[in-house]
Amino acid sequence: MEKKLDDIQEIQNKIIQLREQLHYHNYRYYVLDDPEMGDGEFDLLMRSLIELESSYPQLITADSPTQRVGGMVAGGFKRVNHATPMRSLGNCFAADELLAFHNRVQNGLGEEQDIEYVVELKIDGLAINLIYENGHLVSGVTRGDGTQGEDVTTNIRTIKSIPLMLRGDHAGIPSFLEVRGEIYMPRKEFERLNHEREEAGEALLANPRNAAAGSLRQLDPKVTANRALDVFVYGIGTYTGIELTTHGQVLGYLSQLGLKTNPHYQIFNQIEDVIAYCTGFAEKRHELPYEIDGMVIKVNDLSSQQILGYTAKDPRWAIAYKFPAEQAITVVEDIFVGLGRTGVLTPTAILRPVRVAGSTVSRATLHNQDYIEEKDIRIGDTVIIHKAGEVIPKVVAVVKEKRTGGEIPFVMPEECPECKGKVIRQEGESAHKCTNPHCPALFREGLIHFVSRDAMNIDGLGPAVLNALVDTGLVKDVADLYRLEMEQVLTVPRMGKKSAENLLTAIENSKQAGLSRLLFALGIRHVGVKAAGIVAKRYGNMEDIKQASVEELLELDEVGTKIAESIVAYFAAEENLELVARLETAGLNMTEEKQIITENQLFSGKTFVLTGTLDKMSRNQAADMIQKLGGKVSGSVSKKTNYVVAGTEAGSKLDKAQELGIEVLEEEDFLKMVGNVE
Ligand code: IVH
Repeated sequence: MEKKLDDIQEIQNKIIQLREQLHYHNYRYYVLDDPEMGDGEFDLLMRSLIELESSYPQLITADSPTQRVGGMVAGGFKRVNHATPMRSLGNCFAADELLAFHNRVQNGLGEEQDIEYVVELKIDGLAINLIYENGHLVSGVTRGDGTQGEDVTTNIRTIKSIPLMLRGDHAGIPSFLEVRGEIYMPRKEFERLNHEREEAGEALLANPRNAAAGSLRQLDPKVTANRALDVFVYGIGTYTGIELTTHGQVLGYLSQLGLKTNPHYQIFNQIEDVIAYCTGFAEKRHELPYEIDGMVIKVNDLSSQQILGYTAKDPRWAIAYKFPAEQAITVVEDIFVGLGRTGVLTPTAILRPVRVAGSTVSRATLHNQDYIEEKDIRIGDTVIIHKAGEVIPKVVAVVKEKRTGGEIPFVMPEECPECKGKVIRQEGESAHKCTNPHCPALFREGLIHFVSRDAMNIDGLGPAVLNALVDTGLVKDVADLYRLEMEQVLTVPRMGKKSAENLLTAIENSKQAGLSRLLFALGIRHVGVKAAGIVAKRYGNMEDIKQASVEELLELDEVGTKIAESIVAYFAAEENLELVARLETAGLNMTEEKQIITENQLFSGKTFVLTGTLDKMSRNQAADMIQKLGGKVSGSVSKKTNYVVAGTEAGSKLDKAQELGIEVLEEEDFLKMVGNVE
């Protein structure tokens, strides 16, 4: 049955109303980044519109928010001329070049007086020319050679921050307007896209700019729609129907029309302030969620811009202040394998030296075998490297087109480069490790562990001092620490008398650390602070632990097969027994008060979980107290938990306790409980 005319009228009104609402909320979300409505509500509105439009397809218009994603572009993108040419900018790299630019501007204008400049971010994307006719987006064309670009309208329409319709009442909307801006890909989206490509085994994209360019040149707009591209507009070409006198006004006008301008622009009338703003941003650039490659300085007054005009290439009224490039192309001359402290073999690319981000780069970490294989990096390859701020340079991608066939694939050595020990890669791990327990790299790690806070807690033995002691041969095993003398310690570079004294005192004091700490410090596999404490308190002296059997150890709460077997294996090795003997001779306390767990102890049979930060003690101290009183400490909350002690910023464990109805103690309550028995 035919719908009556006023019914259709009513439906059309409803459709118009829905479109207006959707345009508005789209604007709040994508342009202002300040949504008024949740995603769910927005989707509901969108669904209502889709339903109405599919019942009344004759009412669909190109501006409808449902019409962002169109059909495939057949036969490639059309080339079209720009109404006003799109110029590029002259570059400069240093403060004195900005001063020279300022002088040229002053001379050009024949003025001695101050000149107002607008300073903007130089967004690292690709330039676009958007044409709005009577407020409707009719075309989006790339810069191309400046006079002629490619018509990418179908793809531009998928970018949500580009309005399909300008905002404002009819009178304020220009009949023709060319808007200039930069399409870019936010860092997060770039990472997401590359991650997706990695999973799919596709080549990675070198940077967000290439990713944006590639996304915009897709013949299928659905693909573009799936890449969260974004835009900042920064200027106008041909326009009608409005009087503008400054560039600042241009930016204000563009935002008023609902276009997305960048908020970080500033107006200055002193070139020194311009310079300070530019150099200041060089530091801050990495904090932005998108990449910028410099700053753009523009004369604010539009009639002055006209007077200054253009050289053959660039405007005389604007200049780009470029930051040092963060990417460069170079060659992998070799791949060197170094050994980390944990015995991990780490491949490093030796690069043909190249300037990147203000310094010369000749190495880049390659992390591990998987990383090299994923990127297919070979010796002799031409690669793109990236260095941002203080970050260690990375190889981003291989330029495969430059391959000659002579490149050599990398193979991880089977022997440790430091000690020639056997190298293995354990299943499920990305690292290759040296298996020789005497490997100097492993020894260094063992030493660091031995002196660490939860172990022997020896202050003043940072990595630099330890390395020096190992390199000079003064310390060949941990027992050697206890034989160090003043003159020897003083041979460590930059070691003063006072620090040496402090260090020797700290070493001396550590002799009384006790059995729990010592057992943990030995670095027996799987034996953490907790297990060491339990075993030490049960046996009370090292001698008995040395003799313990797996079965005996298994009787202890919290000691599982892995721990028990590892302890027995440790004390079965002659060299470990020798080390312990040397430590004993050095005077280390090898005992601890034995803790007999009896039924009448306060916490006997009770399981505690500690969570959050405690005020009056560390969690380890609290655990000690609980164990002394016969209680158990567990890492996770379950029905078997009796108490959860919650400090500040307690998280999911507290939630779980509440969910299971387990008694939660604040630190005060816990202390009271403990205090009652003292
Ligand atoms: S103004 C005549 N402002 O940098 C002046 N350009 O080589 C035209 N760009 O092609 C450009 N951010 O793609 C201007 N705030 C900004 C910009 C910017 C990025 C790009 C644009 C242009 C290139 C200059």
